[in-house]
Amino acid sequence: MRWLAVPALILATGAATTTPAWSGPETIPGVANAARARQNWILSCQGCHRADATGTPQTTPTMAGFVGKFLHVPGGREYLVRVPGVATAALSDADLAEVVNWSLVRFDPANIPAGFAPYTPAEVGRLRLKPLRAEAATVRAGMVASFGAGDKQQK
Ligand code: HEC
Repeated sequence: MRWLAVPALILATGAATTTPAWSGPETIPGVANAARARQNWILSCQGCHRADATGTPQTTPTMAGFVGKFLHVPGGREYLVRVPGVATAALSDADLAEVVNWSLVRFDPANIPAGFAPYTPAEVGRLRLKPLRAEAATVRAGMVASFGAGDKQQK
């Protein structure tokens, strides 16, 4: 029996459609490589924060639908990088800036202020030199208490 040589090349017709795991934007400001950012989240962050950033009861607060609120209050932008889990992560300044920018858009797009400028590696490098330690919980509580009246941007 003779085997027919079938052309191996099958031309894809139509547009190449990708199916992202989420429906957010394809490109995120301040994120050069979203796949790398996600990988760094998995390796360095989700052990405490969980894959969907809903956190761990009693130990790690939820970031999902919440973390962007810090960007509306004084000191919040700095806090998000000075918090111990971020400041002391075993990531370069560039990778850390990228994963923070990625996590904001990935987990709390609704609360990101209009005109938010993504963190740069230089800014992250400067902020992480002053990590919060035991006082992180107190600083956090003060900021969370100030959310509220001024926080009408959340839908
Ligand atoms: C060892 C557990 C742990 C790891 C690992 C960790 N975090 Fe956290 N993270 C926390 C806890 C706990 C808080 C609450 C503040 C505090 O008490 O430190 C927090 C707070 C935060 C906050 C501020 C939001 C808030 O509600 O306070 C951000 C942003 C954040 N983490 C991002 C990250 C990112 C990004 C990574 C990975 C680079 C990471 N974290 C790794 C435990 C962790």
